[in-house]
Amino acid sequence: MLAPTSTLLSTEQYSQHVNPQWVRLLDLLQMNECYRECIGAELFTAEGRRILDFLSGYSVHNVGHNHPAVLAAIRDEMDRRGPAMLQSHVSELAGELADQLCRRAGGRLTKVYFSNSGSEGIEAAIKFARAHTGRFGLLHADGAFHGLTCGALSLMGSSFWREGFGPMLPETESVPFGELSPLEEKLRSRKFAAFIVEPVQSEAGIRIPPRDYLGQAQDLCRRYGTLFVLDEVQTGLHRTGPFLAAHHFGLDPDMVVLAKALSGGLIPVGALLLSDAVYESVYPSLRRALIHTSTFGENSLAMRAGLATLQVLEDERLGERATQVGERLRRDLGQALADLEMVKEVRGLGLLCGIEFHTPKQLRLKVFFEAFKRIHPGMFGQLLVMRLFGDQNILTQICGNNFLVLKIAPPLMVSDAQVDEFVSKTAEVVDAIHSSNAFWSDALSLARRAVNI
Ligand SMILES: Cc1ncc(COP(=O)(O)O)c(C=O)c1O
Repeated sequence: MLAPTSTLLSTEQYSQHVNPQWVRLLDLLQMNECYRECIGAELFTAEGRRILDFLSGYSVHNVGHNHPAVLAAIRDEMDRRGPAMLQSHVSELAGELADQLCRRAGGRLTKVYFSNSGSEGIEAAIKFARAHTGRFGLLHADGAFHGLTCGALSLMGSSFWREGFGPMLPETESVPFGELSPLEEKLRSRKFAAFIVEPVQSEAGIRIPPRDYLGQAQDLCRRYGTLFVLDEVQTGLHRTGPFLAAHHFGLDPDMVVLAKALSGGLIPVGALLLSDAVYESVYPSLRRALIHTSTFGENSLAMRAGLATLQVLEDERLGERATQVGERLRRDLGQALADLEMVKEVRGLGLLCGIEFHTPKQLRLKVFFEAFKRIHPGMFGQLLVMRLFGDQNILTQICGNNFLVLKIAPPLMVSDAQVDEFVSKTAEVVDAIHSSNAFWSDALSLARRAVNI
């Protein structure tokens, strides 16, 4: 076994050669821990802390950290010493995984393009939609998060993520999430190749659309010749209960992007599921057999990890568990936070949940809340995350495009006892924010340190 390098030395090396600002940020937030072992929904630090993971690496660890069956599959594949990156053979494992994915997804999704990440899946969807329709325009929803490569970033309106990186893809436009009239107005121009949308917007604040929105959006897309593409990078693989969030709404999309949880959180992977019709437009001839590929795309470790992950999700009935535990979590959390005026709503689907906060009415709290929002819109949420982590040993985060929503997304195998622990500890922290001044004086000192950094 490899001996871990000293924590201090590796942090210094990371600071010197990778991303010193990330180290400074984690230090500022007092969240710079050295993790010794991660199992299921629990993280164990070198200093002996046990931390409950209610973030799952942003919906990566659906089967739990280091699931033994996924680890064994990867080990087997390495021991087999088969063709890993030959680039000159037909990958049987890719075929097997694609078959399993298409069976589970259903509808017109009968082909799979394997990428190495969610962003790469989005990039492929952009190219494929353009090739299929002969149009270049791309529609996306306000608040969306699709990834940080140039194409994916072009589908995100947020100036924060785009600033300093120059012009993005032309002919990209956004519509309000959940509203049909503005969508139809844009589609009517018949210039859009695809409408790319998350069925439940994650980073926008766990936004669940009105019941009929997605079905009608799909119908509108069909009427105007625009492909209907779902980004299920966070919502897929049973995160919201069924295999795809699309299944909640009876959808039949033209393409679906998966990534994150697909390989058990262990090997980079992404998958773009598409219809035969779209495939035929992109790869119509031998000459174009390799027109869109990526070196590591069908690598055997990711494929084996993917197959093992799907098996675990099925064997352990994690989709059903996400539905049941999610409902209970929201009910219990809702009750525990019911009388706290800064809590606006507890919402979610399956185990993709959020607590939304809003300005309190009580003058004393309102003054603090508004003041900190003005210093930095993310400061209130970040302090909450810090308190949960530092005082209660619970890992969460605020949503990337909506700082007033605390995201709750534990591994789907989270136990009832762990959920109870989360609910009572979160209630304790949120209650303290309402009743004690300590939270706000901490906020002030964090603000001072952040300004000085
Ligand atoms: C909904 C969604 N789509 C796409 C991406 C990009 O995925 P990746 O980070 O694997 O490139 C993310 C990443 O968080 C995401 O949340």
